Amino acid sequence: MAYKIFTVTIGALTGMALLASAAGKVDTSKIPPASTKKGVTYDKDIKAIFDAACFKCHGAEKQKGKLRLDSLAATLKGGENGKSVLPGKGVDSPLVHAVARLVEDDAMPPADKGKPLTKEQIGLIRAWIDQGAN
Ligand code: HEC
Repeated sequence: MAYKIFTVTIGALTGMALLASAAGKVDTSKIPPASTKKGVTYDKDIKAIFDAACFKCHGAEKQKGKLRLDSLAATLKGGENGKSVLPGKGVDSPLVHAVARLVEDDAMPPADKGKPLTKEQIGLIRAWIDQGAN
């Protein structure tokens, strides 16, 4: 009896662990380091990166995933899955996971739909969010 409860418990725990990994636990150690640049802002540093790589799908004409990135306010608002920028937490922000291509299905720009961002660009976005996403 005790043995049976034990096996059932282990089975349930294994199932939960598998679900958790399928639900997108990501390896954040693969994210490039934050830039050491101080005073990073959307207007000065980030908008141009998004303009070149993201606006055609997340701008005035198209809002894929119900997300616009062509203003700071819209970027902070997020898309159909909620906020993708968590001010102060670059490593935890879904937008950083997307541009660092941690999960190929959620990589931005999508595979074959544009050049991946460089490590420097990702590091700058990470620093911008760490510094408060101003
Ligand atoms: C060729 C079109 C295209 C480009 C370019 C593109 N995206 Fe996306 N993006 C999508 C689509 C489509 C979705 C909807 C989710 C999906 O199907 O993957 C999406 C969803 C997202 C989401 C999730 C929004 C949510 O709430 O679900 C984020 C964050 C995101 N994109 C960020 C970016 C960033 C940052 C860039 C530029 C570096 C970028 N995208 C460039 C097509 C694009």
